[in-house]
Amino acid sequence: MSEGLTIKSHKGPYSVFFNDELLANPEQLLDGQPNFIVDANVARLYSNQLSAVLNRSSTLVIDATEESKSIARIIPVIEKLVANKVRRDHGLIGIGGGIIQDITCFIASTLLRGMNWKFVPTTLLAQADSCIGSKSSINLGYTKNILGTFNPPNEIFVCAAFLETLEEQEVCSGIGEMLKVHAIDSVAAFDRLAADYDALRGDRRLLMAYVRQSLLIKKQYIEDDEFDRGIRNVFNYGHSFGHAIESATDFGVPHGVAVTMGMAMANRIAVLRGLLPERHFVRMRPALRKNYARFAATGIPLDALLSALLKDKKNTSSKLVLIFPTGEDAQIGRHEVVPDDAFRDQCQMVVGEMAA
Ligand SMILES: NC(=O)c1ccc[n+]([C@@H]2O[C@H](COP(=O)([O-])OP(=O)(O)OC[C@H]3O[C@@H](n4cnc5c(N)ncnc54)[C@H](O)[C@@H]3O)[C@@H](O)[C@H]2O)c1
Repeated sequence: MSEGLTIKSHKGPYSVFFNDELLANPEQLLDGQPNFIVDANVARLYSNQLSAVLNRSSTLVIDATEESKSIARIIPVIEKLVANKVRRDHGLIGIGGGIIQDITCFIASTLLRGMNWKFVPTTLLAQADSCIGSKSSINLGYTKNILGTFNPPNEIFVCAAFLETLEEQEVCSGIGEMLKVHAIDSVAAFDRLAADYDALRGDRRLLMAYVRQSLLIKKQYIEDDEFDRGIRNVFNYGHSFGHAIESATDFGVPHGVAVTMGMAMANRIAVLRGLLPERHFVRMRPALRKNYARFAATGIPLDALLSALLKDKKNTSSKLVLIFPTGEDAQIGRHEVVPDDAFRDQCQMVVGEMAA
């Protein structure tokens, strides 16, 4: 078990515990009669280990789909919690990936004017990235992540055993966010992770060391800028393009994989616009490409991609706000781009190259 982390937030400090024994002893989660929201796949795969949680009549089991985290589908979940006589001091505990996290965090922000909540991340993406940082993001119809709050959990329990059952594409999704975080940290940090890319699959200790390191890198930024008004914006690297890819492919590409494709697009467009020396694009390409290889042939309709990019909430009224690596040290930063014909041509070229 590795040493935990403490993260500072506007609600006070909260802790990340690395607890490999959690599945052997989930009773430790039951103190205080919490209400659980559990991913349906996790409930099925871990029905024996989590029986103490799943047998509670108040536990809600929901499908982890993008539709489930739409505001319309969250209302029935709140209705069930109210019918179960939820009280503020009971607290909520989410067990699942980023979707369950977003739902639990959003409900905990608003129900009874705010409740404590805890999170047990079960995907690599949630363990290495989304579990810290306070954000909840909820969809409105097809518009992804347009509703949200800042509300950190009180405690997070990272248990590596959950990763055993993840599908390959979900492992790639988590590694995608880890590559992003390491690229933000430094050229050397990205290159180290890229060099270990193949070894990560068979070496759980190495993988968990990078999970912890990803959280440590993210910690510096979210403690400085919890509400995402400045320096934390760099964490959107790969995300403007990534969200647009998810939306244009009807969520056919997992989030963190779309982020890897988004990073590849941002890198290439940065080179085409004279912002980034080509050697950085070439340096990062093999690891990014490996991570999105099985989705490279997914058709990304250009008009749908551009229309989704135009809806990004970071944009100003006339410009796209995109995150690019720039300069000799590939520093990640914010750039405003006019969505003109030249930009459209660049996107078309890059989408074509990625599929080739
Ligand atoms: N709030 C944030 O800070 C934040 C950050 C990043 C991403 N997100 C959101 O998170 C979502 C993506 O989350 P995610 O990638 O963690 O996955 P997810 O919650 O979408 O789950 C992916 C799939 O893995 C399954 N699953 C979960 N745990 C499993 C396990 N242990 N074994 C087998 N299958 C398991 C789920 O049932 C689902 O089918 C997106 O909606 C994204 O917008 C939120």
